[in-house]
Amino acid sequence: MADTSCSALLLFGATGDLSRRMLLPSLYALHEDGLIDPTLRIVGTARSEHNDAEFRDFAKQALEEFLPADRRDEAKLATFLDRLQYQTLDASKIDGFAGLAEKLGDTSCGLSIFLSTAPFLFEPTIEGLRSAGLAHENVRIGLEKPLGNDLASSRRINDAVAAGFSEQQIFRIDHYLGKETVQNLMALRFANMMFEPLWNSANIDHVQITISETVGLEGRKGFYDDTGALRDMVQNHMLQLVALTAMEPPRDYDATSIRDEKVKLLRALRPVKAEEMVRGQYRSGAVGGETVKGYLDDLGQASETETFVSIKAHVDNWRWQGVPFYLRTGKRLAERRSEIVVQFKDVPHNIFSDRGGKLRSNRLVIRLQPEEYVRLQVMAKEPGLDRTGIVLREVNLDLSLTQAFSKARRRIAYERLLLDLIEGEQTLFVRRDEVEAQWKWVDAIRKVWEGGDMEVKPYAAGSWGPNAAIALTERDGRSWHD
Ligand code: BG6
Repeated sequence: MADTSCSALLLFGATGDLSRRMLLPSLYALHEDGLIDPTLRIVGTARSEHNDAEFRDFAKQALEEFLPADRRDEAKLATFLDRLQYQTLDASKIDGFAGLAEKLGDTSCGLSIFLSTAPFLFEPTIEGLRSAGLAHENVRIGLEKPLGNDLASSRRINDAVAAGFSEQQIFRIDHYLGKETVQNLMALRFANMMFEPLWNSANIDHVQITISETVGLEGRKGFYDDTGALRDMVQNHMLQLVALTAMEPPRDYDATSIRDEKVKLLRALRPVKAEEMVRGQYRSGAVGGETVKGYLDDLGQASETETFVSIKAHVDNWRWQGVPFYLRTGKRLAERRSEIVVQFKDVPHNIFSDRGGKLRSNRLVIRLQPEEYVRLQVMAKEPGLDRTGIVLREVNLDLSLTQAFSKARRRIAYERLLLDLIEGEQTLFVRRDEVEAQWKWVDAIRKVWEGGDMEVKPYAAGSWGPNAAIALTERDGRSWHD
């Protein structure tokens, strides 16, 4: 049957790992729920030679492997696979793009492109799309990281993309923004009265943000060793969490208001001094009861790349003056966990002290994954007659988002992001000025590393990183929330 629809989704890197694990399962989920137009065609492209039938087989296998069994509906699976087409393309050569355009056919109603590619292919790909008429005003282009490895290379990529597309057509992906709990951070801050009035240096002692992983290199040796934890995690995901935690209230929940506030915050980040950072690299150890090799053995060669980084960051504005943001992220750590901890200050005066009552300051824990909860640690009096004094104890005000919304389907971040890309909703995508502010801060850190003797400290796999990272908080009289 001839294709009569005039809109399509084009997936570059369609036979890659991201496509298998995330994109195809996400697209199937959207299809299953009837969220994408039945006439939208999905065209995959990559260098490997396949025809439509082979790509459908590839997608079928990916779904068998990565889609939970209870999500599989055979009839819908068949109609989903019917949507898929494939075109072999070597994106480094301009000639192939005409064939791609032919395969795509009429895209006048809208073409959404998901581009995940090696940095050196950005320029030729954009050039190829333009030459084949695939950069018209109804095209949106989603860009997956890495978008460069420093400010200069990120600018080059952004310039190359800007030569074909306006900023309104460009959707820079940070998959953390597609996570429900990350969006919930804005709901927590701006849909409630009780947090925002306290959300400043008068009431908050410090903030901690942890993104810890138990996995190691996961078959990405070359990429990871060239990148390291700072550029792989801090430049993007971690800084987005910092921005959403610390930004001023936006005027509206829309792309311009939110991104304006985030960029202001990112530009207010103070350059980091050598003594405010720790770099680490994992050695052998045990993770989840299993013995694992060290980074150098995983890699098979010598390397100074950091698999862990911890930073004491500062935001130079009125709201956050004097409030450190302790950040840490790493591979092969004790637990998989993403969380934001807001540590409040002590109450101004302890009325219980003469009765022996000891106080601990309040702490708000926002757990983003693997569990999803908000926990406020508050002081309460232990029940009793208090003849020998008042005993105060920390108890948790617990809000499990998993339980509170137990009926709502949990979605992969990419489901949200792909749907937003198809529908042209930019709020959860990163604007050029944000990316550049992120790189500027990260480049300055790397300059400090290159200029001084910032050695990479070893840590045992399965631990919380090098001792020096613990010292980063301890020397300020604070401790990590482990
Ligand atoms: C990616 C990094 O951006 O994020 C990976 O390149 C990392 O190294 C991953 O493992 C973490 O994502 P998540 O969603 O599992 O926290």
